[in-house]
Amino acid sequence: MCGIVGFTGSRQAAPILLEGLKKLEYRGYDSAGVAVLDNGSISLAKTRGMIKNLCEMTHDGNDIKGCVGIGHTRWATHGVPNDINAHPHLSCDGRFAVVHNGIIENYAQLRDELIAHGIEFKSDTDTEVVAHLLEYYGDEDAKTAVMKTASRLVGSYVLGILCTDGSGRLFAVRESGPLILGIGVGENYFASDVTALIAHTKNVIYLDDGEFAELTPEKITVYDCTGTAITKPVSRVVWDVEAAEKGGYEHFMLKEIMEQPRALKATLEPRVKNGDIVLENFELSDEELKDIDKIVITACGSASYAGQVGRYVIEKLCRIPTQVEVASELRYREPIVDHHTLLIAVSQSGETADTIAAIKECKARGARTMAIVNVVGSTIANLVDHVLYTWAGPEVAVATTKGYTTQVAMLDLLAIYLARRLGRIDDERYAQLLTGLQEMPSKIQRAIDLNGHVQYLAERYYSNQAIYFIGRNLDYAVCMEGALKLKEISYIFAEAYAAGELKHGTIALIDQGSPVVALACYEPLFDKMVSNIEEIKARGAKVLAVALEGDKRIISQADDFILIPKSDPLLTPIAEIIPLQLFAYYVAKANGCDIDKPKNLAKSVTVE
Ligand code: M6R
Repeated sequence: MCGIVGFTGSRQAAPILLEGLKKLEYRGYDSAGVAVLDNGSISLAKTRGMIKNLCEMTHDGNDIKGCVGIGHTRWATHGVPNDINAHPHLSCDGRFAVVHNGIIENYAQLRDELIAHGIEFKSDTDTEVVAHLLEYYGDEDAKTAVMKTASRLVGSYVLGILCTDGSGRLFAVRESGPLILGIGVGENYFASDVTALIAHTKNVIYLDDGEFAELTPEKITVYDCTGTAITKPVSRVVWDVEAAEKGGYEHFMLKEIMEQPRALKATLEPRVKNGDIVLENFELSDEELKDIDKIVITACGSASYAGQVGRYVIEKLCRIPTQVEVASELRYREPIVDHHTLLIAVSQSGETADTIAAIKECKARGARTMAIVNVVGSTIANLVDHVLYTWAGPEVAVATTKGYTTQVAMLDLLAIYLARRLGRIDDERYAQLLTGLQEMPSKIQRAIDLNGHVQYLAERYYSNQAIYFIGRNLDYAVCMEGALKLKEISYIFAEAYAAGELKHGTIALIDQGSPVVALACYEPLFDKMVSNIEEIKARGAKVLAVALEGDKRIISQADDFILIPKSDPLLTPIAEIIPLQLFAYYVAKANGCDIDKPKNLAKSVTVE
């Protein structure tokens, strides 16, 4: 999704803006641009394509002089990706430049209104109305013009605004999208994401919806929507610069796969004290807990597949009916939830538009809300009653890896915690599960150590047109994520099927040489899975099995196999996904795909 940066200070702005935009590249974009204020007028450089084109055009920003500016990476929604539709957009009088993330839903009506006032539009974007509205209201003070403009907009809009009133002022407006203000010394910043700020400052302010900020080199003032100055807490970012860079790996995805043992430790360790689980901000009394008769997990993409694992574990341990609903469906389903329902939203970014909408919908119907989120201060974290952070650190690759495993671990921890408090598991099982979970970082490391073997296998399978994934119970939940990983970065058709469903239609797809990844790690249904493998082998399938160390039956049955360390069956998915992540990575690599930035995908889907 679009990325926004802004800078005001005494250094040259353009090189700083370009560096910031590079840090936001992972969000996905099709064009980029900057606008800088120089001697009272705005210089603009923008182009379709990569930021490196913009760097070439401007000699790394050195051709554009001035110390105040805004920058943008665009993900086209209204109007094709081209130079004209790229942001920033200027008002006709050249007094305002605007960058925008989101969708202005009433832009057509505003456009007609402005055209009736004689304004000529240059682009096909919804954003351009903002620049012209600013000019329309611009006879007043710039702050008033910003407020009046924002009050006319319907939809989601995070705006960065540069104006030529000579004050070196920038404005940042937030409505339904991420925006963070960075506090420097004699200079200030804004950006869509902390990764664009941490090279300069770790002191940040998270803007909330309906708020806007005025930035000068010396000062940041935050206002509510009525224009009243408000006091906002300053937060300290715990990530460092290295955490947001590749650190010698060829791709962020590989680096992030390798980081999983550490990410898991960071998520689990602070929550296990003296053999007990301590969940911060979880203040439900025993009575309130007993009152919960349904759990709804909502999320999108991989986060929803983490939820699928969570559903099996929660139901097994807590015996509370649990359903997983993708947020884009739940939000429009008039969900049947009330104060007996616990809604658990799962999101790495904390900014996914559908997940936010689904939470709001369920909240309005009285559900208790909780979120498992990776980004501190994100919209989802602020929206729910209880937030549990996954301490995975910044995830840059579009394909999530450590985001997913820490979500699964957090759901496991929550399930164990709830089961204990509800009295559904005894002390012995509680201690057994907790110890098992604490061992998962080292089990994951052993799964990562299979890297070379998985690469060898990926090179045997990379040229297939379609790869099927089958499994039962928790293995099936892991199949969904394994298939998504493969399709999103290698563009190979991949689909997950419940192995017990094969006979009901899917087995018709199996032919001589059809590649099938069969997950056989869920011990209680191991024999059933062996029968399913026999069925597809009999029809000519080429089977790559993922099973547990020491499993001789699978070795004799499958064409290829990956053996992962044994753990408690409920916790195995955390290690089981690792070879599938590596498999997807090496298949995509063998196919020459752009692994960290797969086509058509954005890291954080902040619009519907
Ligand atoms: O930031 P979120 O966890 O809310 O994002 C949800 C999905 O967009 C995300 O998991 C997506 O499916 C990834 N590309 C999967 O690798």
